[in-house]
This record gives sequence, C-alpha cells and structure tokens, in this order.
Amino acid sequence: MSIKIPRGTKDILPEDSAKWQYIEKTAADICRNYQYEEIRTPIFESSELFLRGVGDTTDIVQKEMYVFEDQGGRSLALRPEGTASVVRSFVENKMFGAANQPVKLYYTGPMFRYERPQAGRYRQFVQFGIEALGSEDPAIDAEVISIAMEIYRQLGLKELKLVINTLGDNESRKAHREALIAHFEPRIGEFCSDCQNRLEKNPLRILDCKKDRDHELMKTAPSILDFLNEESKNYFDKVQKYLGEMEISFEVDPTLVRGLDYYNHTAFEIMSSAEGFGAITTLCGGGRYNGLVEMIGGPATPGIGFAFSIERLLAALEAEAVELPVQTELDCYIVTMGEEAKDHSVKLLHKLRQAGLSAERDYLDRKIKTQFKSADRMNAKLVAVLGEDELKENKINLKDMSTGEQQQVDLDVFVEEVKKYRA
Ligand code: HAM
Repeated sequence: MSIKIPRGTKDILPEDSAKWQYIEKTAADICRNYQYEEIRTPIFESSELFLRGVGDTTDIVQKEMYVFEDQGGRSLALRPEGTASVVRSFVENKMFGAANQPVKLYYTGPMFRYERPQAGRYRQFVQFGIEALGSEDPAIDAEVISIAMEIYRQLGLKELKLVINTLGDNESRKAHREALIAHFEPRIGEFCSDCQNRLEKNPLRILDCKKDRDHELMKTAPSILDFLNEESKNYFDKVQKYLGEMEISFEVDPTLVRGLDYYNHTAFEIMSSAEGFGAITTLCGGGRYNGLVEMIGGPATPGIGFAFSIERLLAALEAEAVELPVQTELDCYIVTMGEEAKDHSVKLLHKLRQAGLSAERDYLDRKIKTQFKSADRMNAKLVAVLGEDELKENKINLKDMSTGEQQQVDLDVFVEEVKKYRA
C-alpha cells in the first residue's frame, strides 16, 4: 500500500508555490514599510507555554494541540499559533529593553491544530502574523488592523468585511463575567459538558461554543458593551475614530469572541464576503492582549496583533477570481543543433546564469521544433540557436520571441546582448 499524506495537510506543488512566495513577499514588504521586523521562532515549544498563554479552557489547548514527550521526558507541543511563541521570545530576549519601542514583529510559518479537516481548515496551515508589543495607544490597534486590510488590498481582494469588538479591560471583563454567570447558571444543565466546565472558569468561552450556539440563552446573553467602564469605552471609541480616519469600513459586533483567552480591549476578524466562499469565512483574526507578557513571566507590557492563514487567503483570491502576477519569464533558451553545439551550450548557459540571467536548454535530445516548443512554454524572451556552422564562425543566432526578429551575434558578446533584452 502506498503511503499517503497525513489527513488535514497539503503539498504545495510547484504550480502553486510561486503564489505562496508572492503572498509572503507582499505581506513582508508591507510590514517592513510599517517598520515591523521579522522574527522566527521554533515550531515546537514547551506545552506549558500554550496552556498558560492561549488558555487551558480553549478548544485549541484542550482538544487540538499536538503534544508529545521528547526523549528527555519534556512535554512539548507543535505550536498551534504564533503569539505565545513571540511573547515568549520577547520576554526571553528582553526585547522590552530594546531601544525601539514599541517592538514590532512579523512572522510566517506552519501552525498545527488537530481539527476536523474541511475546506479552509487544515491540521497544518501557514499563518502570517504580526505583533506590536509595548504600546497602549489605540492608534496602534488601528495600525495593526490597517496592515491586514492593506495586505488584502494590495493582493487584490475586495469583498471583505471587517468586524470589531472590545472585550474591555480587566474591570469591565470582571463585571461582564459576573453577568454571564448569572445569565447561564440557572439553565447550565441544558448546555454541553464543556460549557458546564467553562461556567466558572471562563464563561465568555460559552459564547464561542459550536455545539450550543443556537440555544436561546446565547441570543439574550449580556453584551460586553453594556459593561465597559469609561476608560475601555474611550479606548474603543478612539480605535473606531482612527479606523474612520483611515477610511476603513467596519462593523461592531458585540458577540465577537475570539478562540483564544489572552484578549482584552480590541478584538477583530476579517471575513470574506465573496459569493461561493466556503462555510468558514474568517480570513484573519486578532486583538489586544495586555497581560499576556506578564503571564509568560515578563514585565507588564501591552500587546496587539493578528494572524491569517495563507490557505484561506488563497481560497478568497480564488473566490474573487483574482490572478496574482506570478507568471515566470525566461531570459534565454538555447536551442542546439548537433553534438558539438550541445557541448558548447554547457559553457554558454553557465555564463548566462552567472550574469544573473535565467536560462535553460534541452536535456533530452529533443528535435529542434520541440526545443522551440519548450522555449515557448517557458515564456522565453529570447531563443539562441547554436549549430555547427555558427560555432565554426564563433557566432550564435538570437531570436526575439516577441517580435520574431533575428540577428547573429559574436559568441564573445552573447551574454551582453542577452542582457540588453532584460528591461
Ligand atoms: P486564530 O483566530 O486562532 O488567531 O487564527 C488566526 C487565523 O489563522 C484564522 O483567521 C485563519 O485564517 C487561520 N486559521 C486558524 N485555524 C486554521 C486552520 N485549521 N486551517 C487554516 N487556517 C486556520 C490566532 O492564531 C492568534 N494568534 C492571532 C493573533 C495574533 N492575535 C493576536 N496576535
């Protein structure tokens, strides 16, 4: 029996990897313009990091984490997300003492969640994310949201919906929490066992339950917006004002609860509203997590960020029929006639490539016509034809594939001539 790829994972084949590279480069270039720098952290971390960081009442930690013991008996986990790792690194490398504050970071890499695979949901997926640590200015919240929107805009997505909410500060959350307990407690027996466990530990999680989402108490649950203290309300008002100034449209949805426990104040999601997009419409999620740095052992430091998966972004691009400009071109294809010319092409090809040009030849002893076909398929700008006669005269024929024009050039200036076509 042949061995198959693990469930919920995907190979990215050459015809797609150019799209991945294009997306990753576009996102990274945008982030650098906003002064975010790249950070790379390990794919596995101590399990404890996610228990503490993401939260032990979340589905991600309770049900979806790939946990294993290494040969030294340590409990490790494949990272289910990037924020906890970035915060761990921020603390461990004392970035809170860096000269440039806030510390602005971006990252990209595979994340792992043992979820039920379906369109847009994988067990290994690649997140692109950013984190800004050290500022509690609502302008940073607006900046972070605007970066996600800008990445999508530059890639050509149009049918997007930005939904924002606030979870308030600790005081507001506490008041909301008590109201939630009072709301659900009398009828908690009608809810799933997960919700029953969450009632005391983290009642906000009940609002995010997939099993009980249609229960009537869900619709009448107290809204956080009614429990915001003055400071939290002002903060949220400012975020909205700044988004308005950047002309970024959004909706406020007080029922937006994120799947991770570290959030407070601003939370947001960006959905695709493209027709025919699958059941899972969330493309990007993020929010503020003041308190997480402390939880992971660092000094009190506010933070905010987002992450989106490239898989869902590609699905959205497809739903909107956006073509990324990833067609590749070849500077020169060398067509050879005869054994001697073929031998000589090794050296010529090498020279072209050393000069930074993209070049190719045939390796399967194909006929001239077929060699020309290959050149066409590779979008060659120039085809250089080398035969025994040309070789004797130290010449080579160059054909401009866009105009059909031909010229004979000296082999000594061949590379220079090919370069001229590289506009
Ligand atoms: P999250 O909402 O769990 O947040 O995930 C963010 C994004 O990752 C989702 O919106 C989606 O695009 C993608 N994603 C999640 N699970 C899957 C999956 N199974 N298959 C494909 N794509 C998936 C976080 O991970 C937070 N760390 C975001 C953040 C950064 N908050 C603050 N900073």
